[in-house]
Amino acid sequence: MDEDCDFLFKVVLIGDSGVGKSNLLYRFSKDEFYLDSKPTIGVEFAYRSIKVGDKIVKAQIWDTAGQERFRAITSSYYRGALGALLVYDITKKSTFESLKKWLKELREFGDAEMVVVLVGNKSDLLHSREVNLEDGQSLAKLEQVSFMETSAKENLNVEEAFLHLIHRIYEVTSHKSLDAKTTSESLDLKTLQGNKEIICIDEVSATKQPSSCCLH
Ligand code: GTP
Ligand code: MG
Repeated sequence: MDEDCDFLFKVVLIGDSGVGKSNLLYRFSKDEFYLDSKPTIGVEFAYRSIKVGDKIVKAQIWDTAGQERFRAITSSYYRGALGALLVYDITKKSTFESLKKWLKELREFGDAEMVVVLVGNKSDLLHSREVNLEDGQSLAKLEQVSFMETSAKENLNVEEAFLHLIHRIYEVTSHKSLDAKTTSESLDLKTLQGNKEIICIDEVSATKQPSSCCLH
């Protein structure tokens, strides 16, 4: 049991190979950037704890390969994920066109209530832009998700994108907890013991990560 945080949220990074998923994660978790990063093979994780109101939320961020042949098993990648950063590269139109495929996969494997933030990365490369800001905005509107352009390289909006995702998950989750509380109270079920609410993420324990749940 992880006593350092009140909530543990699993979030996933998805998008074509080379859009900058790993570098967004390095920037957010370690404030680092690698010009010559290698394609991800399998799956990597990073954690970062942030304060939301008076609670400590630990984000467990999963990153897998955009390339099909290097990807982790899709169903376990998405299992238990409360949010996703869906990333494309503003300098490569094909990565924007692939978003349909990624959204389909999200709907197939992800939870219906998963919070999604669409991210157009590499905003520092304005001279090579192939996808207009408005195209990103319209797609986000159509799909009813949030949207931001970021640069992992110049550290533009990276913090904002992840924090927005985590705050939205917090909002959705606290509503759910409230609903659960109301239901349990009306049915007189002791699913919420005292003030303790538990959010569990199945595969964290399956992969022997340090904590499976957070308690408060
Ligand atoms: P896969 O692991 O193959 O799915 O790729 P990925 O999406 O994780 O991409 P990665 O983070 O490895 O970045 C690919 C290349 O883009 C690297 O050379 C990075 O240095 C570069 N890159 C990532 N983000 C940015 C950015 O914001 N601006 C610029 N100019 N380059 C970036
Ligand atoms: Mg990668």
